[in-house]
Amino acid sequence: MIKLKSLLACLLMGLLVVTMGGAVVAKTYVVGTSADFPPFEYVEDGEIVGFDIDLIKAIGELKGLELTFKDISFDSLIPALKAGNLDIVASGMTITAEREKAVDFSVPYYSANQAVIVQEDSAKNLTVLFGAHDLGVQTGTTGDLWVTENLKEKGILTGRVVYYDTFVLVLSDLINGNLDASVLDFPVAKRFTEQKPVKIVAEIITGEDYGIAVKEGNQQLLQLINEGIEELKTSGKMDQLLDKYFQ
Ligand code: ARG
Repeated sequence: MIKLKSLLACLLMGLLVVTMGGAVVAKTYVVGTSADFPPFEYVEDGEIVGFDIDLIKAIGELKGLELTFKDISFDSLIPALKAGNLDIVASGMTITAEREKAVDFSVPYYSANQAVIVQEDSAKNLTVLFGAHDLGVQTGTTGDLWVTENLKEKGILTGRVVYYDTFVLVLSDLINGNLDASVLDFPVAKRFTEQKPVKIVAEIITGEDYGIAVKEGNQQLLQLINEGIEELKTSGKMDQLLDKYFQ
């Protein structure tokens, strides 16, 4: 009986936070994202919006989770989750074996490959990945890892790999001519081709799956997120969201 009581108390503590004044308020879950990744997450009129944002909000609504959002650099998302400064990461994050060691991922919700982009009026093609070219990547992304491991470390690329905190900066340096190309997730590259003077010259089949991440061991929250994703799929709401952001 005592055990059951303390278990209940623990559960309640997880759900409720008692403020200093004695009032009881629901916990607010902090969602971290790198809002430079349209259509998954981007800033519009000063607000963080996008597919991932709508997705986690819809899950929050179904599961009664109060959410607040933080826009931080992609490579600090996992450290922030581990440190307890974030509860959830929704950032087009690929489920990888390496990341699985540090955080727990939801069931996959989107699949993507990588793409190579160059300036729109450039004559460059796939060979921009070889030799003395400068490639821009977002630090810590799978695009970064692919370029670093498959091109730079093998000596196939003899130019520089330039690391950026955000894709906003990658794109401006590419358009300014400070970079020859960038490697990034295909759906995002495609959206950039519609918004900026850039074009896709190659697709790299990496077969990545995106997942929502929580702190390692946070099974309770992970289960709610997984249930939410499944419910959104069955209700047709997931397809509605996909239609809204990907025509
Ligand atoms: N899918 C890639 C990865 O997980 C890139 C994600 C970048 N996300 C972002 N919001 N900038 O590494």
